[in-house]
Amino acid sequence: MTENLIEFRLMKQSDAENIAAIEEMTFAMPWSRNDFWKEAINDNAIYVVGVLDNKVIAYGGVWVSFEEAQVTNIAVHPDYRSQGIGTKLFSRLIEEIKKRGVTALTLEVRPSNEAALKLYEKFNLKSVGRRKGYYLDNGEDALIMWNTKI
Ligand SMILES: CC(C)(COP(=O)(O)OP(=O)(O)OC[C@H]1O[C@@H](n2cnc3c(N)ncnc32)[C@H](O)[C@@H]1OP(=O)(O)O)[C@@H](O)C(=O)NCCC(=O)NCCS
Repeated sequence: MTENLIEFRLMKQSDAENIAAIEEMTFAMPWSRNDFWKEAINDNAIYVVGVLDNKVIAYGGVWVSFEEAQVTNIAVHPDYRSQGIGTKLFSRLIEEIKKRGVTALTLEVRPSNEAALKLYEKFNLKSVGRRKGYYLDNGEDALIMWNTKI
C-alpha cells in the first residue's frame, strides 16, 4: 500500500512549492508558496508533511499559542485521498505538537466537508459552536471544533 511508503516529517522551506501546488488544487482561497516558505521558519508554527518519491503529497499544520494549537491547513493531494494518509498525517502532527507541550487542539471546518469531519472526529475533536458566514467564497458557516485533552 502507498501509505506504507510515505515518510512523515516536519516541513522544510524546500517543500513550499509542492505544498502550494496542492493548495491551488484544493482550496478556494489558497495560501501561496511564500506563505509556506515563511511558515517553515515560524517558531510558533508546526507543520508535518507526507513525502512519496521525494514529493510532498500531504501536509498539515498548526499555530501554537501556549498550550493550545489551532489547525491552519491540512490537505492530501487529490490523487491520494481516502487511503488513510490524512489519518496518519494528523496522528503525526498531534505527536509533534504534544512534544511542544500542547494539550488542546482547535480548528474550523465546513459542515459540508464530510471527509474532514470524519477525520477530526477520529481524533476526538467535538463541534462546540459555529461561526456564521465564516467562509468568504460561499458564505458557509464554520463549525468550531475542540479537543481539550489531546
Ligand atoms: C480531509 C482530508 C485531509 C482527509 O484526508 P484523507 O487521506 O482523505 O483521509 P483518510 O483516508 O485518512 O480518512 C479519514 C476518515 O474520513 C473518511 N473519509 C475519507 N474520504 C471520505 C469522503 N470522500 N467522504 C466521506 N468520508 C471520507 C474515511 O472513511 C476515514 O474514516 P474511517 O477511518 O472511520 O473510515 C482530505 O480529504 C483532503 O485533503 N480534503 C481536501 C482538503 C480539506 O478539506 N482539508 C480540511 C479543511 S478543514
